[in-house]
Amino acid sequence: MKHNLLIIEDDKIMRVTLTDYLRSKGHEVVACPLGKDGITVFHKEEFSLVISDVMLPDMNGLDILQNIKEKAPNAVVLIITAYGTIKDAVEALKLGAFDYITKPFALEEFNLIINRALEVKELRDENIRLKKNLSECFSFPNIIGDSPEMNKVYDLIGKVSKIDSTVLILGESGTGKELVSSTIHYQSDRKKGPFIKVNCAALPENLVESELFGVEKGAFTGADRRKPGRFERADKGTIFLDEIGDLSVGVQTKLLRVLQDGSFERVGGTQTLKVDVRVITATNKDIEKEVQEGGFREDLYYRLNVIPIRMPALRDRKEDISPLIDSFLANYNCTFGKKATLSSEVITDLFDYDYPGNVRELKNILERLVGLASSDVITTDSLPKHVAKQRGKTRTTVSLAEVAAEAEKGHIMRTLKSARGNKTRTAELLGISRKTLWEKIKLFDIEKKKAGSGSSR
Ligand SMILES: Nc1ncnc2c1ncn2[C@@H]1O[C@H](COP(=O)(O)OP(=O)(O)OP(=O)(O)O)[C@@H](O)[C@H]1O
Ligand SMILES: [Mg+2]
Repeated sequence: MKHNLLIIEDDKIMRVTLTDYLRSKGHEVVACPLGKDGITVFHKEEFSLVISDVMLPDMNGLDILQNIKEKAPNAVVLIITAYGTIKDAVEALKLGAFDYITKPFALEEFNLIINRALEVKELRDENIRLKKNLSECFSFPNIIGDSPEMNKVYDLIGKVSKIDSTVLILGESGTGKELVSSTIHYQSDRKKGPFIKVNCAALPENLVESELFGVEKGAFTGADRRKPGRFERADKGTIFLDEIGDLSVGVQTKLLRVLQDGSFERVGGTQTLKVDVRVITATNKDIEKEVQEGGFREDLYYRLNVIPIRMPALRDRKEDISPLIDSFLANYNCTFGKKATLSSEVITDLFDYDYPGNVRELKNILERLVGLASSDVITTDSLPKHVAKQRGKTRTTVSLAEVAAEAEKGHIMRTLKSARGNKTRTAELLGISRKTLWEKIKLFDIEKKKAGSGSSR
């Protein structure tokens, strides 16, 4: 099928090569060397797909991505990154890129990704049915994973939900910080109150203050009416300040005061307001380093860091990969009305991969695999290249038997948990004898990992 494609790439040879190649496949192509022009063109015409480089002379490709996704959330954007800039790739996924491709790449590889992206675009376009399903399938998102690392997180969530202390959630991108913050709110006594999220990095610096604390009429040009801030809206509830490491020093000072006594003034106002708000913050930056280097106020850091929750990277808790796959597979099968399963090779490759984008990346991969599945069994051909590329690197250290053992262990731990540690019931549920269950518990070192939780009946 013929599609309208937009390429934003300053390197002339690359731009012309990709344009010619895509035209030879029968597509219409508009190519721009500058980001600014690319965005203008995007808003004038309909495009099935945008392919953008990251390093452009006038703009960063990630800003282009953000701009496009804000105005057209369904747009499918593919980002071209330079070799070794995995950070950009992770950021691109977070901002909603469909995928990334690393330079240099072969045209066949490019073609594969383009075809997948176009299929996704078609899926997104027949979206009304899917959207309805999506909300049904994902209506109760819960946190998946039964690794010892995640059990520590659950413990902390349980404890902090009962009190009002400020929580700082730390961890790499895609590890579930936002998910944890909302879980804390909805398990706390404030659950009937508002849960207000603020992404501090997404707001321009001059707007952060008025967004957070509100603004009086006439405070600055454009402030034509009084507007309450997010703190006021969060009264009796929880405010989640995401990407806290990006706050300017001026706003940090105001924030410190709200944390001290709940009081603040609107921008341009003199009246002091008081609110009853629980504050949860998160960052994927090394905030302690920012404090040492003077970019973040030390006193504020201590106020925020009353209870830290550190989200473990997915690569450090590989046993969670299998239950996450099961859950996302079931959800996307529901969303897309499919019955797809994964071949054992796909499971092995997914297990071997190291997920720089953590759970978000795994979730994206599953969405794509299931959404695009043309038969019931998904094979390795459908895997993104960078996932399959890991093959062989770690294969010598992780055998299929080990993957199966991890899955078995995870399943036993989950069943034990659902049976509240009752081994007779667990053995029944698993369809094995009590003796076999005992042997497996010993083999997988489960009791040690779960020490302190559950009974040992
Ligand atoms: N343990 C988990 N179980 C199920 N889904 C998860 C889990 N962790 C993360 N997710 C899902 O992965 C996606 C990314 O999670 P989330 O937005 O909470 O990450 P984050 O740590 O806030 O990332 P960032 O630093 O990039 O903002 C979400 O769709 C979330 O629902
Ligand atoms: Mg987040």
